[in-house]
Amino acid sequence: MQTTRHTLVLTAGQPSGWVRDLECQAWSIATALPTHELRRTLDANVLTCVVVDFTHGFDNDAHAALERLLALPNVGAVGLVAPGQLEDPPVRHLAVDHCFDVLSMPASPAQLTLSIAYAFDMLESRMHERDIDGNLLLRAGLKGGHQVHAEGSMIGSCEAMVALFRSIRKVARTDAPVFISGESGTGKELTAREIHERSARRNRPFVAINCGAIPPHLLQSELFGYERGAFTGANQRKIGRVEAATGGTLFLDEIGDLPFESQASLLRFLQEKKLERVGGNQLHDIDVRIIAATHIDMPAAIESGRFRADLFHRLCVLRIDEPPLRARGTDIELLARRMLDRYRSDSQRMVRGFAPDAIAALYTYPWPGNVRELINRVRRAIVMSDRPFITADDLDLGDYADRSTVSLAEAREEADRDVIQMALLRNRGSLSKAAIDLRISRVTLTRLLRARGMSAADFRSSRDAR
Ligand SMILES: Nc1ncnc2c1ncn2[C@@H]1O[C@H](COP(=O)(O)OP(=O)(O)OP(=O)(O)O)[C@@H](O)[C@H]1O
Ligand SMILES: [Mg+2]
Repeated sequence: MQTTRHTLVLTAGQPSGWVRDLECQAWSIATALPTHELRRTLDANVLTCVVVDFTHGFDNDAHAALERLLALPNVGAVGLVAPGQLEDPPVRHLAVDHCFDVLSMPASPAQLTLSIAYAFDMLESRMHERDIDGNLLLRAGLKGGHQVHAEGSMIGSCEAMVALFRSIRKVARTDAPVFISGESGTGKELTAREIHERSARRNRPFVAINCGAIPPHLLQSELFGYERGAFTGANQRKIGRVEAATGGTLFLDEIGDLPFESQASLLRFLQEKKLERVGGNQLHDIDVRIIAATHIDMPAAIESGRFRADLFHRLCVLRIDEPPLRARGTDIELLARRMLDRYRSDSQRMVRGFAPDAIAALYTYPWPGNVRELINRVRRAIVMSDRPFITADDLDLGDYADRSTVSLAEAREEADRDVIQMALLRNRGSLSKAAIDLRISRVTLTRLLRARGMSAADFRSSRDAR
């Protein structure tokens, strides 16, 4: 684990006043340009913040060497520039593309300290980024959004996502049907594609059908195709989507919206692995792997008779649940920064990061539209923002920026209350039984309840009271 931190100031001239003082804080200052020796001093096991003082200028060779140095995975940079210096393309390129933060001089030592702390935070958060294979991206020597992930690949490092990645790898090894459930925008389609890409079928087609978007009367022929003359206008045979996926994966998206009348023929196909084109009289063997997904509550759909239970059981042999974005902890910020990296070039201006109120809003907003909504808000903010740091207002989340914070004591109190309530509910208001569950005495439980204005009687149901 890389935990040691080192700060290095690089300058082509004499560091001015307070920058020189930084040496007293055990930071090192190098007036030499980043030569091979310097590179060697940047130990790969140490997180290094390089403060690049552009104010004295660097020559072209130095620029090239700097670029290589700043691209090292364990290096995070803060640039110091003189007013107007960012108009110089080589400086702008290094400062904007390679520095986590840029300070216009004269800046205060406090500002620099903050920027350095930010650079270390960014380096650390990138250290924990994993790709779907569980590789630590930074350790693998990869840094920077677009360089790391191909468009569309999954990002996540929270426990729920690591578990999801594990499930993807496991189910990819089999041919059994997979059912993916999750709120809208959580990444169900992306997951289906990852399963396909990781399976032995990866070189065969991945065919996605949105079961809710095709009119019911066309669904049959869309899925199974038709023979010439099957109906007016059927001038030639058409292969259906199921057949088009032969050898590969058929992704039945929004399966919960599949019209009831089409469910029987899909079930038949799943049972027999044979299809009959509309207007045809021959059965064709088809080898496809089925992945289905929906955002609707399937047990409720089955209960209300909108979805056949037997079809659901055929589809749901292996199950994957996509965690909602609000349950992904710091992944929310990780994704936001990734999307900023990916789309920052949409703006003519330099958008460097998120202001603290935007970060607060990212964590308090409940994200009903999940990752898709996050992407849309960040993209919009990149275009709308006229400052270097995206604010909560730019994300259109101003109302979520000023939520009062919760102290540890408040959080603990809330947790205590929840646990006590659960124990009382489970034991229908019995103090003695709840106290045993909570492994405290009955007297202590009574005291805790009194302190919170709670009463065990509230947890006795009317039937028990009788
Ligand atoms: N973990 C992730 N990392 C990176 N991008 C993601 C991740 N999850 C989702 N996305 C992106 O979010 C968007 C929505 O994902 P996707 O279409 O797979 O969601 P969905 O669950 O199928 O949504 P819907 O229910 O609305 O169809 C896509 O642009 C996808 O690339
Ligand atoms: Mg989808």
